Amino acid sequence: MINYQKVTGTFDMTGKVAIVVGGAGGIGEATARMYAAKGAKIVIADCKDNCPEVAEAIAKDTGCEAIGIQCDVTSDESVENLVKKTVETFGEINVLAAMPGFVDLYRANEIDIAIVEKHININAIGVFRVCKAVANQMIAQGKGGKIVCVTSQADFIAINKHVGYTMSKAALVGMIKVCALEWAEYGINVNGVAPTVVNTYMGEKAWQGKVKTDMIEKIPAHRFAETDEIAAAVLFLSTAESNMITGEDLVVDGGFTIY
Ligand SMILES: NC(=O)c1ccc[n+]([C@@H]2O[C@H](COP(=O)([O-])OP(=O)(O)OC[C@H]3O[C@@H](n4cnc5c(N)ncnc54)[C@H](O)[C@@H]3O)[C@@H](O)[C@H]2O)c1
Repeated sequence: MINYQKVTGTFDMTGKVAIVVGGAGGIGEATARMYAAKGAKIVIADCKDNCPEVAEAIAKDTGCEAIGIQCDVTSDESVENLVKKTVETFGEINVLAAMPGFVDLYRANEIDIAIVEKHININAIGVFRVCKAVANQMIAQGKGGKIVCVTSQADFIAINKHVGYTMSKAALVGMIKVCALEWAEYGINVNGVAPTVVNTYMGEKAWQGKVKTDMIEKIPAHRFAETDEIAAAVLFLSTAESNMITGEDLVVDGGFTIY
């Protein structure tokens, strides 16, 4: 059962232990900073080797406790190490924000199958690997928990040259629904946040020049999103304010998928 908890509107995370995977930059770092501002203890996890430095900067800026653990979501061993070290340091895990991401753009008739597999291995199976490991820890703790995955507007609408990415994110949405269904009995919410293009490394890699201006033209808000606008939705789905929401994929797209 996912318990009712009086909704205060404060989005409080005091004392919660939150892992942010894909946390070394972009939306992940913005999410970690927002969690820290709400009182959480932070674990920055990413395949990049600068996780301790990012964690240290967040701790310095916000006064929170934070550690960085290098983690590649395509490796069982690496994900097991992430859970083990988090529990050794902070005693438990209450929140997981899972948003490692890979994109490489080709037309569907030209893409190598190996590139499609890489998308699926990181964006879908990799995210599931970390969700499964963290959920088992939450189940053992017996106190419920929150899992939020960052999906994409590509879940809802076909986008040119995004076949590998879209296949991986569509699989992720399926995973979110099944895990939400199965883990509700343990008090665990599982949700997604589906952004439009966001001004990050990944956003700039995929959207440049004319493709960028054409895309902005199609978004009713007439701009790309900023990282804190996505982090705010992730925060909502990570707190008691959203206890009655599970298995959802919340679009944050300036109206792009209205059509
Ligand atoms: N930026 C956009 O336009 C946009 C739009 C929709 C969805 N998203 C999604 O948002 C999420 C965050 O992306 P971002 O825009 O902040 O880009 P980003 O490139 O800044 O962040 C992605 C992070 O994932 C990490 N990562 C990649 N492979 C990994 C692996 N195997 N193990 C662990 N970490 C790994 C990267 O090192 C990077 O820090 C991604 O899931 C992405 O698909 C982004």
